Amino acid sequence: MAIGIGLLGLGTVGAGVAGILATPEGRHPLVGELSLRRVAVRDPGRPRPVELPAELITTSPEAVVDDPSVDIVVEVMGGLEPARSLILRAIAAGKPVVTANKAVIARHGEEIAAAAAERGVYVLIEAAVGGGIPIIEPLKQSLGGNRIRRVSGIINGTTNYILSRMAAEGAAYAEVLADAQRLGYAEADPAADVQGGDAADKIAILAGLAYGGPVPRAAIPAEGIDRLDARDVAYADRLGYVVKLLAVAERVGEVAAAEAEQPLDVRVHPTLLPRQHPLAGVNGVNNAILVEGDPVGQVMFYGPGAGAGPTASAVVADILNIAGIRQVGGEGAVGLDPLLAASSWRRCALVDGSDTRHRNYVRLQTRDEPGVIGRIGTCFGEAGVSIQSIVQFEADDPVAEIVVITHEVRESQFRGALAAITGLPEVQTVAACLRTL
Ligand SMILES: NC(=O)c1ccc[n+]([C@@H]2O[C@H](COP(=O)([O-])OP(=O)(O)OC[C@H]3O[C@@H](n4cnc5c(N)ncnc54)[C@H](OP(=O)(O)O)[C@@H]3O)[C@@H](O)[C@H]2O)c1
Repeated sequence: MAIGIGLLGLGTVGAGVAGILATPEGRHPLVGELSLRRVAVRDPGRPRPVELPAELITTSPEAVVDDPSVDIVVEVMGGLEPARSLILRAIAAGKPVVTANKAVIARHGEEIAAAAAERGVYVLIEAAVGGGIPIIEPLKQSLGGNRIRRVSGIINGTTNYILSRMAAEGAAYAEVLADAQRLGYAEADPAADVQGGDAADKIAILAGLAYGGPVPRAAIPAEGIDRLDARDVAYADRLGYVVKLLAVAERVGEVAAAEAEQPLDVRVHPTLLPRQHPLAGVNGVNNAILVEGDPVGQVMFYGPGAGAGPTASAVVADILNIAGIRQVGGEGAVGLDPLLAASSWRRCALVDGSDTRHRNYVRLQTRDEPGVIGRIGTCFGEAGVSIQSIVQFEADDPVAEIVVITHEVRESQFRGALAAITGLPEVQTVAACLRTL
């Protein structure tokens, strides 16, 4: 029996989904059971890459959700509202939802999950993180037997494209961004990508799944690449590192009991990765997520993080999951599968950043005179910060550029050392400060 699909949005992702549904040959036979019944757009006159009968198209997204022939609602319109209200409306009507909308899930996921659990319907979100890379389902299901230690990823294709070109060409950030906008790899307003907000949305979602409870999105510190200097990318290269915008969610201390809060360190920032690190070779618009767990060890998920085809692949996978359950009469009859529904089973709390431990890269501009490196080393030593390397690079006379890479140190101690260094008369400025793996 055909399963009715309602699409909210027929843009990049929506058109990709419609394209798959229109060409079921060679795909799983269940794809042939999916029937597109209603599609909401803002402007019906806009040319589209897929041709659909005019009677399917409406400018009323509510009409799609309410249409009795629509069994599954697919939200690919983006934005917070009306997307959130439409998802809740579908749930209230007992209709399962598939969405690619990380912004809405990162901010309203708890409310949506509670409504879905109450009504007994699935809300599936594979396309919300990593585009075509299967990562949501592995975290919910395939890796469910693990205690997750860390999830770290390159989960924003725009910034990875910019960083890859800065590294390969030695080009400045602003120059590559302008080019990326011309080529369609960056939005006209790139703020959410380059300031780290998009990656923070996605790591909030991944952390919530990896650790079993919602993570407060607003509390995640996010630093982007918009202030990154090409010099730091070049110096990192000379020291054996590459710079990537990394999103990290890490368990702090031991595994908390199910009834206790799990402390987590969750953050987004440009990071120096040793060249041999598994994420260091991920270039261009590709994404990758490294999951470290006990007992699995390290597993990495790699692939296209965006685009019509890859994202539609993830959306259709979710639709098929629901269609499969529906076909065997499971939906509603036996309650929700707790692994697929990803119900939360504990609370998570973010730790104070000053208590976390990291390695650091610091670039200082100083007067070019004897003894400066020694005095900087003394400041670090007195604050209990051990140095892995300290190198002077040539700069414009009379300024010297000194780059320090520390061993792992508590953030508060590192900040104390920097305050002392800034007070040295020879030190003109702390020009850059980046995390290092
Ligand atoms: N693009 C990607 O590669 C990608 C990857 C992963 C996740 N996502 C997520 O997928 C979602 C969709 O992204 P997209 O790139 O496909 O966006 P898009 O190209 O801008 O498409 C949005 C679609 O929604 C329609 N729409 C927006 N507001 C509407 C409203 N109020 N009423 C009716 N229709 C409305 C638009 O209609 P018109 O066409 O008439 O303007 C358009 O068809 C977003 O949440 C995004 O974050 C995208």
